[in-house]
Amino acid sequence: MRDFTIDNLTEIVLEEYGSGAKDPRYKQVITSLIRHLHAFVKDVELTEEEWFKAIMFLTRTGQTCDDKRQEFILLSDTLGVSMLVDAINHPKSGKGTESTVLGPFYVKGAPEYENGASIIKQQYAGEVALVQGKVTDPDGAPITGAKLDVWQTAANGYYDVQDPTMPEDNMRGIFTTDADGNYAFVTEKPLSYSIPTDGPVGDLLRASDRHGMRPAHIHFIVSADGYESLTTHVFSDGDEYLDSDAVFATKSSLIGQYTKSEDADLAARYNLSVPFSHLQFDMGLMPSTLSS
Ligand code: BEZ
Ligand code: FE
Repeated sequence: MRDFTIDNLTEIVLEEYGSGAKDPRYKQVITSLIRHLHAFVKDVELTEEEWFKAIMFLTRTGQTCDDKRQEFILLSDTLGVSMLVDAINHPKSGKGTESTVLGPFYVKGAPEYENGASIIKQQYAGEVALVQGKVTDPDGAPITGAKLDVWQTAANGYYDVQDPTMPEDNMRGIFTTDADGNYAFVTEKPLSYSIPTDGPVGDLLRASDRHGMRPAHIHFIVSADGYESLTTHVFSDGDEYLDSDAVFATKSSLIGQYTKSEDADLAARYNLSVPFSHLQFDMGLMPSTLSS
């Protein structure tokens, strides 16, 4: 009969979980997790009260999730874990557009639109913007037929899934690049907004005196046959939160410059009144490394 002590417990637990594990990757992950978790508990000499508080925090995080809200993604994002996973899986290569967090507000199955269509179903006080660009491969050749899934907050600071008064799929849409690799859509120039702070993640931010603001951005998932799917944002130049994003997801290569346009031809083509806000944001995809 073994006696478990502070000195031997970690090794015994590691043996129990590691020795019978069939999948080597599972073994590596579970034993590392146990080792770090035990080291953390020992390092801070966790009290029973603190451990129970942590358990209740995670319980509330789960209870805050539903089909429209994902508090665990928010937790991962605000702790910087999502960006670590992103950096490990999509290292900066100098080629292709950089990736960033998906966030908790992506919804599959947005409406598909023709290039040039507007994703505004309900307009607030925002500025109308034309967003256009080209999707290319690493040699600069246009990629035809790439799908761009785009989503953003409305100018009231909410995603459609957060605001029951907003029409479904407001500020979301899927666009397809044309024969020259070009895409275009009409939207509202995004504004900075707060991530939800009325749940456990908000308590965490307040305990560290952190704000919950994200700099203005538009989300993209860009996919095309034969290329790695790209999850990214375009941020707005000059936003006051670019240096203090609540989820650590900003990258300087992803900052776009909106200009005020008086271009009458563009305005006529996209049904806009002048002046309008204009952003050109080109993106590069990397060939898929998976053999087919
Ligand atoms: C977002 O940009 O939608 C987002 C990302 C991470 C956490 C919360 C929101
Ligand atoms: Fe967002």
